[in-house]
Amino acid sequence: MRIATSLIATLALVASTVLAAPNDNKHGNQNKAIVMNKKVLQTSKVPFIPHSGTDLFSNWVGLNVDFKYVKPVFDLVSSTPSLGNGTLISRGEAHVTIILPTEYDQILKPAGVTIQELNAMASRKNRLQRSRIRLECLGRVQVVTKSDGEFQQSLQIILKDYKDLIRYRKEVFKLYVKKGGNPALFAPDNFQPHITIGFKNRDIFIEDGVYKGKNACIQKIVSK
Ligand SMILES: *[C@@H]1O[C@H](CO)[C@@H](O)[C@H](O)[C@H]1NC(C)=O
Repeated sequence: MRIATSLIATLALVASTVLAAPNDNKHGNQNKAIVMNKKVLQTSKVPFIPHSGTDLFSNWVGLNVDFKYVKPVFDLVSSTPSLGNGTLISRGEAHVTIILPTEYDQILKPAGVTIQELNAMASRKNRLQRSRIRLECLGRVQVVTKSDGEFQQSLQIILKDYKDLIRYRKEVFKLYVKKGGNPALFAPDNFQPHITIGFKNRDIFIEDGVYKGKNACIQKIVSK
């Protein structure tokens, strides 16, 4: 009876060890969430930077982000092959694009919306920089581009809960429509806010066929 009891106990222990194994792997380093300083979310602490010029792609609206809190993530990703797949190029600054250069050049500007108007709307009471955002994940997009047949890869921090950013875009939409713009061409909600971390050869965009949304998540990120 005693032997039987200890045998059952041993079997139970073996069984639980086997069952526990896959779970333990899940919590190994591979899938550990990346921790980011929560100060990265306090964008009101850094100034709004207007982007305007006479060249194509030089006019856009962005939420400035303190690169100091993004740099450690860049360093981690760039030195972890399973994340960055090699070393990456950094721009040395961080931002969330709110109005894309292509949206401005191709849609808003032809309707008579000026970059000065967009900047004024963004900087009134420091409104854009005070936007609340949260971190969704580390995202990665890869594609062999049609234009040059080259492998391209870009890593970014995908955002969530960005109602304030949508609100700004909705106000831009109102101004655009008021000026006679075609509502079919600008969708305030159709927008994938992210902070670019780095890339392989060049950054890639919707025009290259990649979507930087939740679909691109490869690792959890938490702010602490
Ligand atoms: C890593 O990068 C190379 C090109 O530099 C690419 O061919 C390969 O598919 C990538 N692998 C992964 C796992 O991302």
